[in-house]
Amino acid sequence: MKPKLFIPFLLLVSIFGSHKSTAQDAVEKVAGIPVNYDEALVKPYTLPDPLTLSKGQKVSDAETWYSSRRPEIVRLFEEHQFGKTPDRSEVSFKVFDTGTPAFNGQAIRKQVTLYFTNDTSDHKADLLIYLPSDSKGPVPLFLNISFVPNQVTVDDPGVRKGMMWGREGKKVPVPNGMTFGRMDAEKFIAAGYGFATIYYGDIEPDFAKGISYGIRGYHLKKETKYPAPDEWGAIAAWAWGLSCTMDYMETDSGIDSKKVALFGISRLGKTVLWAGAHDPRFGMVIASCSGEGGAAISRREYGETIKHMTDSTRFFYQFCGNRAKYGDDPGQSPVDAHMLVALMAPRPLLLQTGTADNWSDPKGEFLAAVAAEPVYELLGKKGLGTETMPAANVPILHDLGYFMHEGGHGAMPGDYHIFLQFMDMHFSKTK
Ligand code: GCU
Repeated sequence: MKPKLFIPFLLLVSIFGSHKSTAQDAVEKVAGIPVNYDEALVKPYTLPDPLTLSKGQKVSDAETWYSSRRPEIVRLFEEHQFGKTPDRSEVSFKVFDTGTPAFNGQAIRKQVTLYFTNDTSDHKADLLIYLPSDSKGPVPLFLNISFVPNQVTVDDPGVRKGMMWGREGKKVPVPNGMTFGRMDAEKFIAAGYGFATIYYGDIEPDFAKGISYGIRGYHLKKETKYPAPDEWGAIAAWAWGLSCTMDYMETDSGIDSKKVALFGISRLGKTVLWAGAHDPRFGMVIASCSGEGGAAISRREYGETIKHMTDSTRFFYQFCGNRAKYGDDPGQSPVDAHMLVALMAPRPLLLQTGTADNWSDPKGEFLAAVAAEPVYELLGKKGLGTETMPAANVPILHDLGYFMHEGGHGAMPGDYHIFLQFMDMHFSKTK
């Protein structure tokens, strides 16, 4: 019998089904909870001001943002949305592929095992890296967090074969010929960038009981079955793994670690937003269709809501326990998506969405970027510069960027051209 692999449903629909609509868009209830797709039915809401401290004081200079408001917002997200993470003191690395020519000599391939705990027998992930072979110094790099192991993400026979989580809660070999999640690493190499990828399942499996196998389970205090309500959900665990990846990259002289663009799709779009917000060493984030719990305003009742997301039959485990408290009234939450976007400032952030991805609320993501603009401006950077949503296929690329392709959930081949354009704008290359 073939093992059933774990691949997020909405992505499968958009990859193998129509790009015009997704199955979830067509239904009016998800987990028995109605879904609104009618703009006229969105109730008015008020967003917390990213530039007012909890105690009421206005933030009018960069110094107060960095010293007081930014840390305050990070803490609020830790406590109410993603959960607090442990330190990374047990993390170590082993470079087992120190530099092998790949892609007809265009790139040098490196492979590194990241060990997340002192015991190196479990809780480890292989990081796959390509650097342009003709680079004259450290290169900026595109770092992808992937739904699939490295040998599936990149078509290169030299990549060490990893296993993948199956629905039964066991790691299984990847079926021959699988191409879901495949990316064109050579496109980045040709443009003078490094490319790296890591499999999210090696950090924490993506299902409710995954905690028993992942890094969160390892860090549970004795006698405790589940993290406390303000401790990490799976998204914070994946983001923690990305910070471990950055810990390695800071030690690699081939990589310009201040110019790493972090990329993820969907739940991994939420992950890269939180990773970039939490860990300012990431120089750029490109978040694809991150939706609810990512860049889409939660107070806006359109598409997926906190209540859908945190339902016990769905994705509650991806967030901290406290997140579900706001299901009935997102207006009670001290945070919303515009504050997550603002935490990236002054670093460049690109939000990529799709016209038919109503479940993820592309307009809600646009509005979050608009509401984050005052923070970018305070730090001398440029937000979207408009309150009018752009048409499909018309990118807005400043320090904040927004791009909505014509199509559904996920990143489409043409989007990568925009990602490279955004990287070119912000990352100078030594080559
Ligand atoms: C579900 C979920 C979304 C998520 C998506 C994915 O559809 O409701 O919030 O982004 O899965 O990760 O594919």
